[in-house]
Amino acid sequence: MPKLKQKGCWMVRVTATTPILEIRDLTFGFGGNLVTDHVSMSVDRGEFVSIIGPNGAGKTTFFNVVTGVYQPSGGTITYRGKDITGINAAQRARAGIARSFQLANLFPTLSVLEHARLAAQAQGSRRYGLLRPYTAYRRYLDRAQSALELVGLGARVHGPAGALSHGDKRKLELAMVIAADPEILLLDEPTSGVSAEDVPAMVALIRKIRQVEGKTVMMVEHKMSVVLDLSDRIAVLHGGKLLAIDLPEKIQQNETVQAAYLGQDSI
Ligand SMILES: Nc1ncnc2c1ncn2[C@@H]1O[C@H](COP(=O)(O)OP(=O)(O)O)[C@@H](O)[C@H]1O
Ligand SMILES: [Mg+2]
Repeated sequence: MPKLKQKGCWMVRVTATTPILEIRDLTFGFGGNLVTDHVSMSVDRGEFVSIIGPNGAGKTTFFNVVTGVYQPSGGTITYRGKDITGINAAQRARAGIARSFQLANLFPTLSVLEHARLAAQAQGSRRYGLLRPYTAYRRYLDRAQSALELVGLGARVHGPAGALSHGDKRKLELAMVIAADPEILLLDEPTSGVSAEDVPAMVALIRKIRQVEGKTVMMVEHKMSVVLDLSDRIAVLHGGKLLAIDLPEKIQQNETVQAAYLGQDSI
């Protein structure tokens, strides 16, 4: 990678061809059991990569290692050309790597808007750190409001989050991660618990977020129709190992993957 000397320190020059995220030989285990087993992958800026694999394959754990919830036992994570393996989850979130929140145990009496504002504020120091508090607060509120409008909750902003239907709570989860304004969004099963008739609307929403916001997305999802609809590439995890990562049509044709998972609508 080209390096640049500036003001006495070495800086890595981020070029258009530098992947936004580069994961090399990542390992993590629970008590000697490797759940992330020497996984390597690169994700390009603006790319949509889905991660599939059966229950227990290590998909959620992989997201937790990438976001810094768990420290890997080996390997490196490079984000925008910088090694971030040693920094914690809050620092990674501020740097622009955010996962969707699980709303199950959030605050039922707090308004929908306040949830989104708090999510915006949690990462705000990265973007608005130099502004005066009131100006920054307005920006958080604006960012929260527009994220809620984007997901279709614009009319519900002042109501308590606890009064939302399950489907609308999933939309609020998405609005919160958008309000946080990350570079990379990690979505863990965004359609789980969404009724079958609401899934197309959720897929349309995820597509819209990507188009409007131009984000890089990594998504764990069980529904193959959703995965095939949205992904630029699909990664297959199996027993913590990366079985394959390729274009959707190549994954569908991949005999190892086919033998293991496809032919079922849900994996
Ligand atoms: N906190 C934990 N402590 C111990 N084992 C865990 C923990 N979380 C997950 N595991 C185990 O790690 C493996 C991968 O889990 P997980 O990453 O949740 O898989 P997936 O998201 O693909 O269903 C499973 O065998 C699971 O039982
Ligand atoms: Mg999981």
